[in-house]
Amino acid sequence: TIQSKDKEPHEIKQDFPVNFDNLEAKAKEILPLGNFEYIRGGAGQEQTMRNNRIAFESYAFIPQLLNDTSSIDTSISLFGISFPKPFIFAPVGMNMLEHPDGELAVIRAASKLNIPYALSTVSSYSLEEVAEVAPDHTKFFQLYWSKEEEISFSMISRAEAAGYRAIVLTIDTTVSGWRTGDLKINFSPLSQGFAKGNYVNDPIFRKNLLNGSYENYIDGILKNIDHAHLTWAHIEKIKKHTKLPVLLKGILHPNDAVKALESGIDGLIVSNHGGRQLDGVIGSLDALPNITKVVNGRVPVLFDSGVYSGVDAFKALALGADAVCIGRPYVYGLAIAGEQGVQNVMMNLYNELVTTMTLAGTSSMEELKKVELVKRNNQM
Ligand code: FNR
Repeated sequence: TIQSKDKEPHEIKQDFPVNFDNLEAKAKEILPLGNFEYIRGGAGQEQTMRNNRIAFESYAFIPQLLNDTSSIDTSISLFGISFPKPFIFAPVGMNMLEHPDGELAVIRAASKLNIPYALSTVSSYSLEEVAEVAPDHTKFFQLYWSKEEEISFSMISRAEAAGYRAIVLTIDTTVSGWRTGDLKINFSPLSQGFAKGNYVNDPIFRKNLLNGSYENYIDGILKNIDHAHLTWAHIEKIKKHTKLPVLLKGILHPNDAVKALESGIDGLIVSNHGGRQLDGVIGSLDALPNITKVVNGRVPVLFDSGVYSGVDAFKALALGADAVCIGRPYVYGLAIAGEQGVQNVMMNLYNELVTTMTLAGTSSMEELKKVELVKRNNQM
């Protein structure tokens, strides 16, 4: 058991990997190669993935000591709700690729740890099935816009009815990235049926299926997933359709952050999709400071891409993120040990964050935001 004054006690088996590289290696041992490579890999030559890591490694912080850190408060507030930890589960599609319990295992872990959970459009289980597991837990619904817009509006309405608290519209996936790893071995998880959860139960999708619009549901999903026609004009329509807060995921340019605010958006996620979409993009962490500057506290700014340790989370929070979304690490935890694995990963990240805050002389999120960072120039 790992335990100290503020760290939460958590039982972790000796053989459960602690650092990210070991997590990845263990997941590789367990998963079929295609499933593993789909999770690990990125777009093109994986320059964006490398830039994510380089960005984290190029920031160093200067601790200020002899502050009382005998009690550490890691709580945050989002859309009027308070959470004990500054983390969010990033939306990750098709969790049955890692474990038969898929998203059901993840939401169980999320609700036990009281960490908000963002469910993907292309989940293996439907948004209703996931909500049923933890009706009172805070859930967001991540929307991939559909070519047939009524399907998107139908999914928003279903998410609202099932108690989801926000819509996360992902805007960096107008088409799927050029994923060389998947292409090399001709791996297409979408065509394997793992993404069906939200589609097969959707009334509009089903109507089109029965009307013969698609030959089968996989055909229908594939037809709907690319949405290169999505523009700023849609945001107004989406805002009109729902009372829920709408966040945009995939913001990197401060001009887009300004446009988002002008469009009445309720929150942003600074992200390059973990380097899976567009290759040759700046590290997500390098985009963060300019965005928090223009947003200036008007809406929450969340962050993801490349957060693989408690120290990484510390740096993103110090650079102004209001919360940090975790992607690949929990997915590897799911592959290794299901719900328990997801909990282990998140608790390791959390306990390392608490240790880092204590050693760095910061006892709250407010103080963490005042930490001085130095950027070294170690770009490749
Ligand atoms: C993702 N991500 C993602 N994002 C999204 O909006 N909808 C989705 O369905 C998915 N699916 C998905 C699958 C897999 C296997 C991964 C690894 C990622 C992106 C995710 O939300 C997040 O932006 C990244 O995972 C963050 O980068 P790191 O933390 O994985 O480096």
